[in-house]
Amino acid sequence: MIEIRKATGEDILVLRKLAKKIVPDSFKSTLNTSQIDYMLDKFYSQKALTDAFDKGQIFFIANCDGEDTGLISFIEQGPNLYLMQKIYVEIKNQNKGIGSALLEKVKNYILKKDNSDFTLELIINRHNPGLSFYKNRGFIKVRDQGLDMEEFYINEEIYSLVVKK
Ligand SMILES: CC(C)(COP(=O)(O)OP(=O)(O)OC[C@H]1O[C@@H](n2cnc3c(N)ncnc32)[C@H](O)[C@@H]1OP(=O)(O)O)[C@@H](O)C(=O)NCCC(=O)NCCS
Repeated sequence: MIEIRKATGEDILVLRKLAKKIVPDSFKSTLNTSQIDYMLDKFYSQKALTDAFDKGQIFFIANCDGEDTGLISFIEQGPNLYLMQKIYVEIKNQNKGIGSALLEKVKNYILKKDNSDFTLELIINRHNPGLSFYKNRGFIKVRDQGLDMEEFYINEEIYSLVVKK
């Protein structure tokens, strides 16, 4: 059974463990090992996640049959505009509908909160195998954007989905 809960600061360790398991595999075709380590530290260190919560990033965790196995997060960027920052599902549980359920959770959460149409954006590398997941769920490319990781620079694309009330 898939259950999704909103994460609190007490889930930081869970989020870190999931990221450590999932991120290296997810980016092995687009980033090298040191870039992946840098990314894990930048986004999933205790401090990075504490800061993310403090700045209003919202995380949901997917639990499959009693085991935490996936996460999604987003942040408000402006009026009716949100950026989805992360979506990861453990390899062993991919293709079971968990990613779709996480995305639906975020859409419904924002709709309930704002009670208005909104735009959900995400930043992704065109070579990321996850891109088709988004395209198949209606996201379309709206612009290019470089992602400055301080240590290195990645060419990324912005995909966007308008969610109607
Ligand atoms: C993309 C991802 C979140 C989808 O989660 P999921 O639980 O497998 O998704 P669902 O079961 O709801 O849907 C399955 C879809 O995901 C696709 N998918 C499954 N495994 C995938 C993988 N390793 N990479 C990319 N897409 C994958 C399937 O082809 C299927 O596509 P379709 O329904 O559009 O035909 C998950 O595969 C994942 O975490 N991938 C690695 C991380 C990643 O790429 N994140 C997004 C970019 S940051």
